[in-house]
Amino acid sequence: MTKKTIIQFDHVAKRFDGEIILKDISFAIERGKFYTLLGPSGCGKTTILRLIAGFLEPSEGTITFDGRMVNKIPPNKRQVNTVFQDYALFPHLNVFENVAFGLRINKLTNKEIEPRVKQALHFVNLDGYQNREIAELSGGQKQRVAIARAIVNQPQVLLLDEPLSALDLKLRTAMQVELRQLQRRLGITFIFVTHDQEEALAMSDEIFVLNQGKIEQSGSPRSIYDEPINRFVADFIGESNIIPGTMLKDRVVSFAGKTFDCVDQGFDEREAVEIVIRPEDLEIKPHGEGLLQVRIESQLFRGVHYEMIGKDEDGNSWMIHSTKSARIGEEIGLFFEPEAIHVMRHGETEEAFDRRLESYEGAGHD
Ligand SMILES: Nc1ncnc2c1ncn2[C@@H]1O[C@H](COP(=O)(O)OP(=O)(O)O)[C@@H](O)[C@H]1O
Ligand SMILES: [Mg+2]
Repeated sequence: MTKKTIIQFDHVAKRFDGEIILKDISFAIERGKFYTLLGPSGCGKTTILRLIAGFLEPSEGTITFDGRMVNKIPPNKRQVNTVFQDYALFPHLNVFENVAFGLRINKLTNKEIEPRVKQALHFVNLDGYQNREIAELSGGQKQRVAIARAIVNQPQVLLLDEPLSALDLKLRTAMQVELRQLQRRLGITFIFVTHDQEEALAMSDEIFVLNQGKIEQSGSPRSIYDEPINRFVADFIGESNIIPGTMLKDRVVSFAGKTFDCVDQGFDEREAVEIVIRPEDLEIKPHGEGLLQVRIESQLFRGVHYEMIGKDEDGNSWMIHSTKSARIGEEIGLFFEPEAIHVMRHGETEEAFDRRLESYEGAGHD
């Protein structure tokens, strides 16, 4: 294990009453990075955070912190703090005392406590708020107090369980920027939980996409968006066209009744695959031009672009994002680059996918 790694899960499983909730989870978390656990409700995100925090023990596998096994180490002995979804502030205590609470429990003196609380409040842009009552604060300010309370103990890792989900859209976007800046300033590891893919893409160094207790894919926002490894990830991470196809040979794929050049390789001959093309990668051409012909069935103006649905001659529906508009019933051509075609293998694991990508690089493909 490198020194960069702070937390490692090795084949961790979790069962509740005999029911398997997390299956064979392995990952390494590095120091100083912003991680996001992304997945639908009930997929096991909070359970992973509770295992990291020490509120739960794994049923199988090991969790290490700084190279030391911590499966049975209680929460207060781990250098981890959690910001909960509902903030969990004490309504009868003012801002200062909410933030100071953990330090008082650890029997620090007033002289030690005061500068630390002030610094934590400063970090979350709440200078001068120490005497306010919790009831006087807005949702965003309560959120900040909860974060100040978590960072005042100077943890190495901060866990944030859907901390922004109670805020309205505008405040939420502002807090996304603030949290990202805070993480950079503190230089500690954040593990952030959300079911919102845009939030995950905007904030993270690295995303773990979870589904039914399993990590489907992990990587940078860009790599997950550009190269989803299966239908679940492609679907969950953004609006996509997912079409059945056949890999004819290396870098040649067929779908929608036609043959196309692509950049993918390492498949079996005539292997059945699924094709992903992002709506923004489809370019509108006059009828008869481009690579595919579709008839426009619907169109909506989305503020910056038009969102259209077109049907090809093979019966596939295509979502198209374009700054150009079209008429309902109009026949148009669609063009896309070979790089815009993402080929997904049925049932491919993340490890096999990574090996396949490496083999491309070995083959000198950029
Ligand atoms: N203490 C528990 N006892 C039994 N089942 C639980 C317990 N905690 C969570 N679960 C179940 O585990 C699954 C994952 O829950 P959770 O980790 O909270 O998901 P998420 O945070 O992704 O919404 C859910 O089906 C949930 O009902
Ligand atoms: Mg949860």
